[in-house]
Amino acid sequence: MTYARIEIAPSILAADFARLGEQVREVEAGGADVIHVDVMDGHFVPNISIGVPVVASLRKATRLPLDVHLMIERPETYIGDFVRAGADRVLIHQEATVHLDRALSMIRELGAQAGVAINPATPVATLSEILDRVDTVLVMSVNPGFGGQKFIPGAVEKIRQLDQWRSRYNDGFRIEVDGGVDLGNTTELALAGVNTFVAGTSLFGTPDPAATTRQMRKLATEAMSQRV
Ligand code: DX5
Ligand code: ZN
Repeated sequence: MTYARIEIAPSILAADFARLGEQVREVEAGGADVIHVDVMDGHFVPNISIGVPVVASLRKATRLPLDVHLMIERPETYIGDFVRAGADRVLIHQEATVHLDRALSMIRELGAQAGVAINPATPVATLSEILDRVDTVLVMSVNPGFGGQKFIPGAVEKIRQLDQWRSRYNDGFRIEVDGGVDLGNTTELALAGVNTFVAGTSLFGTPDPAATTRQMRKLATEAMSQRV
């Protein structure tokens, strides 16, 4: 499979949870491609967010793929629960399990797409042995745990490196970026090779999330067309 396209993935962490369905419909109307769901356990990251029941409710509220970002220790314990609740893609952190290969296989065996995420301090080289069996590599551009943080510029070089490497894998994985993504850095990120743009505050924090989603999509698509 090749992943050449652009996807805007609003992160519901920045949405108003009391009207979550409505907020998802807003970004959907703006052309969002994927809904990004941040799961935090208070151990792997110093924050607690939401879990399996919210994924199950979201599954009923939208047809868009659900991109479930597990910021939890030993993610293998919960992969089955999240897939059964409706996750289309499950992203686990390289730093969160000693059995990364096994956990990624488990995601695919359960019928979901497998993604691996790396923290800002983790080099892309740590993924060299598993790049042939992932659908997504998520480069964290903030330290995970909270929305609304400042983009860490070092992520761009990591994205460029992955973009170079992926030709060896028949373009077999998409590159996703998460943290501090906004209209100001979308173009640079698309030029570096990003396919999937996760954005929370910069979409839900604006008066018209649909319009901002549309703008981000336009910037990313324009930049992507310059790459080829
Ligand atoms: C951070 C989460 C992100 C977060 C991004 O740990 O993984 O998905 O929602 O939020 P913004 O876009 O506000 O940086
Ligand atoms: Zn995330």
